[in-house]
Amino acid sequence: MADSILENVKEYYGTVLKSRDDLKSQVCYKKDLIDNKYVCKAISEVHSDVSAKYYGCGLCIPPRVNGANILDLGSGSGRDCFAVSKLAGIDGKVVGIDMIGDQVDVANTYIQYHQEKFGFDKPNVKFVEGYVEDLQSAGLEKDYFDIIISNCVVNLCPDKEAVLSAAFSVLKPGGELYFSDMYTDTHQSDIVKGNKTLWGEGFAGSLHWKQLHEIANKIGYSTPCLVSCSPIKIVREDFKQMLGDAKYCSATYRLFKPLTPLPRADDPTCQGGVGLVTYKGEILHHEDLFNFDHVLTLLKGVETSVPIEKINILLSSRYAEEFEFNVDNNDVSSDSCNGWNCLENPFDVIKKKVESGQQVKCCQKTKGC
Ligand SMILES: C[S@@+](CC[C@H](N)C(=O)[O-])C[C@H]1O[C@@H](n2cnc3c(N)ncnc32)[C@H](O)[C@@H]1O
Repeated sequence: MADSILENVKEYYGTVLKSRDDLKSQVCYKKDLIDNKYVCKAISEVHSDVSAKYYGCGLCIPPRVNGANILDLGSGSGRDCFAVSKLAGIDGKVVGIDMIGDQVDVANTYIQYHQEKFGFDKPNVKFVEGYVEDLQSAGLEKDYFDIIISNCVVNLCPDKEAVLSAAFSVLKPGGELYFSDMYTDTHQSDIVKGNKTLWGEGFAGSLHWKQLHEIANKIGYSTPCLVSCSPIKIVREDFKQMLGDAKYCSATYRLFKPLTPLPRADDPTCQGGVGLVTYKGEILHHEDLFNFDHVLTLLKGVETSVPIEKINILLSSRYAEEFEFNVDNNDVSSDSCNGWNCLENPFDVIKKKVESGQQVKCCQKTKGC
């Protein structure tokens, strides 16, 4: 079963789709966290032949990529790899892995173009053919990457736990998995799971959002924090009939491989309450503020009340030195997670945004932002 799904997805992205225009559904990201115009600029500088084959569903480039080792799971024609390679700079290293040889070939064809465009004396990006479930067979080192990104790939993989475990093993302690993917609020029916096109378009393999938390917890990641989410509108009648009342969204999450194991939110010893955090404002392009997730923004120099659970995540992450922490007077009288109960339903987040009149429209551009 798993092998036939992989073969079907290979055929879909290797043969059936020639460009983004051939996709049968519009999956795209909400612009709310694109406070970083420099990311949009880097994306707009990617060669148009590469961007034409961009099939992603979100914006998955986190802050502080300069000089970092970065891996892109399911890199396709390489759009995100090239954009992040510009931001990583000549001291950074970017690796894209994809199981489709033709996609890897397209990406390889444009390495020199981007190297010259970004003014690097040697390439800082490479592409390898391989499976995201088995990164070590593809020659990727354990504990090596500061950041792993991925754009609309895990939903195409039959074994999500294998993918997230493989990513965990090649992440450095403190490193971050920052990825955009499709999620559902239901468990998929056999009709949906058996449909090739629904697999190719990402619906059949979309994780129930709660399962992401379960898998992450089992592997040892920090609690997945929701960075952004937007609804996916089902337009085609045949899809609507097969998918029924199921809802789908695209969401970007960040999960860390903690430096030391973190207490889980559902663990009775998990410390509730809040502490104070001050952002130093030293991250390039983020001198004024740091958006941790869709609810927590830290302004430079401003002491901000943060749930202890998130403080533990920050302290155990690659960002720890970017903040000053004051947890001595932890106010444990507040709710155990200060309203952040660690299991945040992205569909509720979308619903609340709609109810409060915020725009949740999709962005359909493929070049820039
Ligand atoms: C929806 S496309 C996204 C490509 C790219 N991330 C982008 O944003 O343009 C999914 C890609 O993931 C790759 N992929 C899917 N499952 C994979 C697996 N198990 N191992 C490696 N690559 C995989 C496909 O070959 C395809 O190129």
